[in-house]
Formats: sequence, C-alpha cells, structure tokens
Amino acid sequence: MKIIVLGGDGFCGWPTSLHLSNLGHEITIIDNLSRRKIDIDLETNSLTPIKPIHRRIKTWEEMTSKKINFLNINVATDYELIKKAIADVSPNAIIHFAEQRSAPYSMISATTKRYTVNNNVNATHNILAAISELKKDIHLIHLGTMGVYGYGQTGENPIPEGYLEIKIDQPDGSQVSKEILYPAAPGSIYHTTKTLDALLFYFYNKNDNLRITDLHQGIVWGTNTFETNLHEDLINRFDYDGDYGTVLNRFLMQSAINHPLTVHGSGNQTRAFIHIQDSVKCIEIALNNPPQAQDKVQIFNQMSESKKLIDLANIVSKLTGAEILLLNNPRNEADCNELNVINTKFIGYGLSPLKLSENLMYEVTEITKKFTHRINKDKILAKAKW
Ligand SMILES: NC(=O)c1ccc[n+]([C@@H]2O[C@H](COP(=O)([O-])OP(=O)(O)OC[C@H]3O[C@@H](n4cnc5c(N)ncnc54)[C@H](O)[C@@H]3O)[C@@H](O)[C@H]2O)c1
Repeated sequence: MKIIVLGGDGFCGWPTSLHLSNLGHEITIIDNLSRRKIDIDLETNSLTPIKPIHRRIKTWEEMTSKKINFLNINVATDYELIKKAIADVSPNAIIHFAEQRSAPYSMISATTKRYTVNNNVNATHNILAAISELKKDIHLIHLGTMGVYGYGQTGENPIPEGYLEIKIDQPDGSQVSKEILYPAAPGSIYHTTKTLDALLFYFYNKNDNLRITDLHQGIVWGTNTFETNLHEDLINRFDYDGDYGTVLNRFLMQSAINHPLTVHGSGNQTRAFIHIQDSVKCIEIALNNPPQAQDKVQIFNQMSESKKLIDLANIVSKLTGAEILLLNNPRNEADCNELNVINTKFIGYGLSPLKLSENLMYEVTEITKKFTHRINKDKILAKAKW
C-alpha cells in the first residue's frame, strides 16, 4: 500500500513507519518536527539520542534498501501543501499521529492551550477537508486516546468501543433505541481536542462518506521495537520529563537513577496501557481491516491492560528496590477510578497483547541506565498544574 504517516518522526509514528516500510509498504512521512522544537523550548530532550530525521531515513535505507520519503509540512497551517502532498502521493491510507500529545503541556498556560487546540483540531480538519476536496478514497486512521471516555465516569461498567446503545423514552411511553458516540468526558485541553476530532470524524463520515478508523489508545510505554533496534541511528524517542514523559516509562527511568517513584495523589487512578510494539502492531491490523464505503466511523480501544498507578509503582519498586513518594496531585482528576475497557476488536483480529513483564520493564531500565548522563534532573518533576 501507499501510506502517508503524519507525525512520523514522533514516538509512535517513527516505529510505525519503519514497521510498515519493513512489511513492504511505500511510506511517506509528513512532519513539521514541532515535537523536537518543543523540547528546545522546554529545555529538555529525549532521553535517547534521536538522530535528525534525514539521518534516520538514510540509515534505514542503507540497512534495508527500503526508501522512506519525507516532507516537512505543518499539517495544521499549510492546507495547500498538505492537499498537494495527498494528491501527489495518492495514498491508500493516511495514518494521523500529528498532534500535540501531552495533557500537562496543554495545561501549562493560555498559550499552550491555544496552541494545542489550533494545532490538533486544524490538523485533523485539514486532512479531512483535503481528502474530501480531492474526492479520494483514502482510509484515514487516527490516533485518539482512552482519555476521551474520561476517568471516573463509569464506575465498573465496561467501556465499549466508541459507541453506546441507549433507549430514549417517547411521549407515548414506548422507547426508541439509538447508538450514540460514547459521551465525551475530557480531563485536559489535549483530551478535549481528541473529542473534537471525534465530532469532525462523525461529520465527514456522515456527509462525505470518508472511511475513518479512530483508535482510542492507552498510555504507550517501552521504547524500541524490532525495527528501531536494528541500528542506533534508528533509536526511538523516550520522553522522561514531567510534562511529556508518560507514567510507566517515568517510573522505570526514576528507578534506574535511584530517584523515588513519584506518584501523584493516592495512586488509585486507573489507566490503560499498551507497549509500543503492540501499538505498532495495532496500526498494522487497523490498516488491514478498513471500514467499507458507507460504514460508520470504526472505533477500536487500543490497549492491553488497565492498572492502578500505585500498583504499577509497587511492581517497579519490587523489581528495582526504588522508593515510592506520594506527591500532591497537580492535576484536577478523580483520586480513584476503575477502568474496565472492552478491547475485543483487536483481540478478534489476532492481537495477542504484550502484558507488563519483568523482561519488558528490564529493557526500559537498561536503556535508561545507558543514557543516564542525558537526564536533566530539574526536569523530572511535573510542572503543569490544573
Ligand atoms: N504516546 C502515548 O502514550 C499516546 C497515547 C495515546 C494516544 N497517543 C496519540 O498518538 C499520537 C502520536 O503520539 P506520540 O507519542 O508519537 O507523540 P509525539 O509528539 O512523539 O509525535 C507527534 C509527531 O507529530 C508531529 N506534529 C505535531 N503537530 C504537527 C503538525 N501540525 N504538522 C506536522 N507534524 C506535526 C510532531 O513533530 C511529532 O513528530 C498523538 O496524536 C497522541 O495523541 C499517544
């Protein structure tokens, strides 16, 4: 297939691009490298020494004889350029990772809130408008988040894959059944942009018959995949700082440098997790199972398991001997919630999820130890408060 990967220089997009290229697909990465610029603004860095995008692509070609094309386009602002790229490449599928993806970053200030809304919503809308204007039959796969469902809204009720069957009372006492998008309950401006994306998908699917898959992904952990391990120039990024680092990777990083594991609040918040290797596999599965013309937006819950944060901290502590430090929660979120997620669609398509294991966690601590000298300890604690 011909595939455009929007945001293909990022943590999820880079290993996905390599995996799909390795499978023989023709890949064009489009990225404006904004994530690298945000690191400079925040005076932080990927824990792993990621190489410039052209070096990454050149090494991949030298290693595998497979070519990846790269275009530096801002998907949110350069509508004519993105439209031309889609027209020129004429892809079978577009995979959309190109958004500002940190909830804490989105809540730092009015400036980062506005940036996140402008960037994410306009990026998504530009792609939809371009596919529609070009009248192309392209499968759009978007990376959404489990956070669109909210945390703490549902008790122990299972969270379905995107849609909820409801009954509406009629004046004559009868009931009408209806399937609705699961009520959105975002917990940050970042999560809010993903719920706005979902409405845009709903509209373009209904009005223009666009074929769309929205993947509600859990928190991704791990670093490398089979392909990024092939050469040190291909190494994936690893965010460790308080704004961009995700919780399990941060615990593993903290344990490797003898820093206490910093748990926000009681740690009884439950979140969904997925390993980066499975995240990449899920995209492959979604690509191979597109919705057909006239199908509604296809929504998959892309996660492997749910865990309470304190349980995760205890697992890492037991494995590494690290202390646990409970801090005041800087976020406005439920102190305790359950998260019972249905993920039967991916399992039905053959995903055999990688569960948290000592081996996989060990791999992350090994990477952290190798690059300890790159850690700026001033950046470890979360700064954003809301
Ligand atoms: N990492 C996670 O744990 C996680 C969990 C759930 C969902 N997701 C979603 O997956 C997607 C990718 O996440 P990630 O962790 O790889 O993030 P990332 O920040 O590492 O990668 C995003 C990439 O998109 C690019 N980008 C952003 N805005 C752009 C624009 N306007 N034009 C062109 N390129 C742009 C960035 O430069 C970056 O390379 C995001 O949409 C995110 O919401 C990630």
